[in-house]
Amino acid sequence: MEAKDILILAIESSCDETAASVVRNGREVLSNVIASQIVLHTQFGGVVPEIASRKHIEKINQVITCALEEAKVDLDDITAVAVTYGPGLVGALLVGVAEAKAIAYGAGKPLVGVHHIEGHVAANFITSYPGRADSGMCKEGLGTLSRLPGQAGLEPPFVCLIVSGGHTHLVIVKDYGEFEIIGRTRDDAAGEAFDKVARAVGLGYPGGPKIDQAAQKGNPHAIEFPRARVEGAPYDFSFSGLKSAVLNHINHAKMTGQEICVPDLAASFQKAVVEALVSRGIQAAREYGYKKLAIAGGVASNSALRAAMAEACRENRLEFYYPETIFCTDNAAMIGAAGYYEYLRGTRHGWDLNAVPDLKLGERIKEKV
Ligand code: KG4
Ligand code: ZN
Repeated sequence: MEAKDILILAIESSCDETAASVVRNGREVLSNVIASQIVLHTQFGGVVPEIASRKHIEKINQVITCALEEAKVDLDDITAVAVTYGPGLVGALLVGVAEAKAIAYGAGKPLVGVHHIEGHVAANFITSYPGRADSGMCKEGLGTLSRLPGQAGLEPPFVCLIVSGGHTHLVIVKDYGEFEIIGRTRDDAAGEAFDKVARAVGLGYPGGPKIDQAAQKGNPHAIEFPRARVEGAPYDFSFSGLKSAVLNHINHAKMTGQEICVPDLAASFQKAVVEALVSRGIQAAREYGYKKLAIAGGVASNSALRAAMAEACRENRLEFYYPETIFCTDNAAMIGAAGYYEYLRGTRHGWDLNAVPDLKLGERIKEKV
């Protein structure tokens, strides 16, 4: 370890993953430990907040110990402790925040609160993860991406499309930690739409990966679903009309005794979502004059979205960035990457840092000087 290295111990517990990571200089992931509760919540068809917080409490010490061991460092080597303090489930967030405060206080290290979505964006800054050659280098079988081999990694400014289970935002990342939101969903988040449609056709939870998989065997032109535009807000999204159209299609098929072809339905629905996401992302990059476009969040691992966005970026001569799958869904490495840049810009939180379930992007609260 170089003396000038900045090592961030990062903690993430905003939903149903208990995660810890050690990140060197914002881009190099030394460890990435995730204890997922998905199996536990699957039987309820979604995340049960009380169960999530209880499981976080059970797992968090073990996960942090593993992250330090895997990185071959101890707390003395750590420069600062970063933690997600919002948005998310309050009881789940609280476990990570309390743990981070205790560790930072006990070890005499600065505490840096991180916005969960800022973390998703920062997943695009990760350039290396031991054991995974070229991680974060836009591989994943697409092979024809515009990112050049050996390129140092994404740097602002760029346009970022954040698509997760709880959020759908189109933002301009002006600098590290500086965001301008230019579009958002008016109703369901993109991941939420995937989850609801998957549930309606009996694919289970979480729906995104199941739809993605089913769609690979389906015909995306089989069913014509609506593409909603929000009047007067070209960068906003609306997925509730699409979701209702899918539910109507299912009901109609049931009432008329027709069989539903799940792969066709999944592929047609997915195509409608992907078209909405790609068209707005590209339009934003062109109209605002940015050359780089990134995607982030759980839905950023969707294979159709990656392929369509890669193609559209190529056509429009834009550089396209996306995180490796493991860094798309909730993880702490992305919090370590965001925490590093927050640390550099002087963000320090006090021991009164609290969970903020509805924390807004770019909203800075209770920072101590
Ligand atoms: O970012 P994330 O792990 O959690 C939030 O911060 O919300 O995102 C989870 C969401 C879920 O809605 C899940 O269904 C969706 O991401 N997702 C996908 C895929 N993998 C995960 N959606 C579409 N295709 C996928 N391959
Ligand atoms: Zn997330």
